Amino acid sequence: MSWRRIFGASFLLPLGAMQSEHILAIVYVVASVTFIVGLKQLSHPRTARRGNLVAAVGMALAIVATMALHTSNGKPLGNILLIVLAMAIGTAIGWVAARRVPMTAMPQMVSLFNGMGGGCAAAIAMLEMVHATESASVLAPTASSMIVASAIIGSVSLSGSLVAFAKLQGIVERSLRFRGQNVANTLVLLIALGIGTAIVVMQRNDPLLFATMIATALLYGIAFVVPIGGADMPVVISFLNSCTGVAAAFGGLYYGNHVMLTGGIVVGAAGMLLTLLMARAMNRSVLNVLFSHFGETAAPSGTTAHRTMRSITPDDAAVLLRYARDVVIVPGYGLAVAQGQHALVKLASELERNGVRVRYAIHPVAGRMPGHMNVLLAEANVPYEQLVEMDDINPDMPNVDVVLVVGANDVVNPAARTDPSSPLWGMPIIDADRARNVIVIKRSMNPGYAGVDNELFYMPNTSMLFGDAKAMMEAVLERVKQL
Ligand code: TAP
Repeated sequence: MSWRRIFGASFLLPLGAMQSEHILAIVYVVASVTFIVGLKQLSHPRTARRGNLVAAVGMALAIVATMALHTSNGKPLGNILLIVLAMAIGTAIGWVAARRVPMTAMPQMVSLFNGMGGGCAAAIAMLEMVHATESASVLAPTASSMIVASAIIGSVSLSGSLVAFAKLQGIVERSLRFRGQNVANTLVLLIALGIGTAIVVMQRNDPLLFATMIATALLYGIAFVVPIGGADMPVVISFLNSCTGVAAAFGGLYYGNHVMLTGGIVVGAAGMLLTLLMARAMNRSVLNVLFSHFGETAAPSGTTAHRTMRSITPDDAAVLLRYARDVVIVPGYGLAVAQGQHALVKLASELERNGVRVRYAIHPVAGRMPGHMNVLLAEANVPYEQLVEMDDINPDMPNVDVVLVVGANDVVNPAARTDPSSPLWGMPIIDADRARNVIVIKRSMNPGYAGVDNELFYMPNTSMLFGDAKAMMEAVLERVKQL
């Protein structure tokens, strides 16, 4: 019995070709619905895990149904064994990588996975061009424009995501910048678009021209991301994620494949919305993030010398917290770096045992990726009811006894409200400075991502507890237990 018989024709259900296509169309509709439902559920921490699962089941259903039921010119899909083998290898790599990756390295993993999606879209487009060349058929302008669009966008997403990965992983440490960079980059993009237009208009399947277009688009992806600072990478990744979605949607249009089209549109729209939301929460426009080449972790701005701040010990912090009625914890990037979420939750539980009301104030761009703090705290099983969004907690701040800022900096910097010359001016912040007492846990007076000094650290109601977030919270917990 041949492989083809095992994995080819006999894999088909005993249905007529027409019937198979109809069932496949229904499966695609079901899968498309799971993508939309899954995305909706992803928007809340409580349902996010289920949403991910729902969409994954939909995707699995679409893949299995395609392999079983898809026919081309009346023939079933060939190479099933190779497809399954490739999927098994990819799944194994993805599974191991996802299980091993530390929470702080999540953005670069997302970037890598996204790059693979872009690469896939470009590879599929390339393959269609090869098929057209081999069969000496001339593609209609509509079909070739979809292939060209998918190839260009997918290639930009692939190389851009790989550079973003390299930056976040610390493989590329410096951002290459020079005068006229935006003009030079735009020129590279225009060349790629020009070649693409020529392919569509001339109706020529020229492999060399197509390869040159792909190479130029790959170059643009690199040139586009290289000058952007590491800290802006999450926004860039989200933007490139949106590009991958659009590239896949063009593929879906080309094949008339509804599930590919819906999936692409959902990813494209969600990625773009996330990009806009992140930029807005940083009080910057998307264009500013992508083209102003900011976002390098800056050196401290040195106006600290003449001001005084109060440094306290874990004992002092324990007393303040233990005898408070209402404590609000503001987690930030430093908590993720220290991996102090479990120590933080133990401290919070001990305070609650002593009758203290504890809540967590979540800033939308605290940390380095969307939902970073939600994920971190969920890992430590913080009940969702205790997570309060910035807009809801701010009116309460003047009544809060102690705000415990753990590894956060920019998201509690009052300069956003008071200093029009600050890069943070206009960014919504958590009004920690308005609370009765503030304890800030961080290792030094170094600034956060925006590279600016923080007035909060010098205010009379603020006490600085210097040290690693995890170690400090463990020390405070020990003292609280002794009180
Ligand atoms: P940051 O302003 O970056 O401040 C983090 C602070 O954590 C630093 O000042 C650092 O001070 C401290 N820290 C680092 N390691 C620590 C450790 N082991 N123990 C204790 N403290 C530690 O963080 P944030 O307040 O969360 O604000 C996030 C920033 O990132 C915003 O400016 C935001 O716009 C930007 N951003 C966010 C995103 C998303 S989507 N979340 C995307 C791009 C950019 P020391 O070095 O003195 O310890």
